[in-house]
Amino acid sequence: MTEPLPFERPAAPDAKATLGPTGRPMPVLPEPQPVSSHGNARVVSMCNQKGGVGKTTTTINLGAALAEYGRKVLLVDFDPQGSLSVGLGLNPHEMDLTIYNLLMEKDVELDEVVVPTGVPGMDLLPSNIDLSAAEVQLVHEVAREQTLQRVLAPALERYDVVLIDCQPSLGLLTVNALTASDGVIVPLECEYFALRGVALLKTTIDKVRERLNPRLQIDGVLGTMYDGRTLHSREVMERLVQAWGDTVFHTVIRRTVKFSDSTVAGEPITTYASSSTGADSYRQLAKEVLARWPHDA
Ligand SMILES: Nc1ncnc2c1ncn2[C@@H]1O[C@H](COP(=O)(O)OP(=O)(O)O)[C@@H](O)[C@H]1O
Ligand SMILES: [Mg+2]
Repeated sequence: MTEPLPFERPAAPDAKATLGPTGRPMPVLPEPQPVSSHGNARVVSMCNQKGGVGKTTTTINLGAALAEYGRKVLLVDFDPQGSLSVGLGLNPHEMDLTIYNLLMEKDVELDEVVVPTGVPGMDLLPSNIDLSAAEVQLVHEVAREQTLQRVLAPALERYDVVLIDCQPSLGLLTVNALTASDGVIVPLECEYFALRGVALLKTTIDKVRERLNPRLQIDGVLGTMYDGRTLHSREVMERLVQAWGDTVFHTVIRRTVKFSDSTVAGEPITTYASSSTGADSYRQLAKEVLARWPHDA
């Protein structure tokens, strides 16, 4: 993973003309190649203990963009708010089984809980407010931090990517998500104070890596709600790159109301407004993560 990434080169000799929104030369991202078989999934958590930074939006839309590139994707709603499930058109009061049942009841199997989404190749493990009880009940379980990893194990051979939408806290549910993951993506809104709390998140990730899950890597930091017209957004991007270097994705997600519109419609922006900038940004992010991930994803 430490070898130079294949796309880390400027797009043109005149790098200045092709500076991307992060202030670095924008690389040419390779077109994702189709996969011939599925399995050996990479598990990635969307994590930031701050709410409203784009975790759920990134989970839905990165997942949908990866599915467009032929990957089999499982989305895991791991927030008791259930925004991911609602954003994919599910009614929280009409769910039969949720991830809560899968975590807490021994006789419930993955297949009974997984539901298809409107996006071909993308499935969902739904959640609702029941999951908040799991946080309390898990405390008394043996290997409480490994519970999600255990229940997700059968999914790994069937999917290429599992994306876990974490709740805005660093509690036991999020520790479970990090323990089950190969990578973490940290969405950060391009606002002042966005960097507050990131040190604590990094400490949590480091602790999980040391004590529970040596595979855990930070796959990237994603600037969201970017507005290139404001000095403010550009300064936050600059500070992000100073602090995190090449961990910061070249792709940034611009601020647009299309995201909330697509949530109301209960579908990803890649289908709701397929040719919008927002949809294209998430397709670009999909290319960038596929180029960063080990090449079997
Ligand atoms: N790039 C964006 N531009 C504008 N609004 C956005 C963007 N990304 C997310 N949103 C909106 O901001 C709100 C919070 O986003 P969400 O993805 O739910 O954050 P989180 O899961 O981190 O709490 C939602 O209403 C969502 O539609
Ligand atoms: Mg959310």
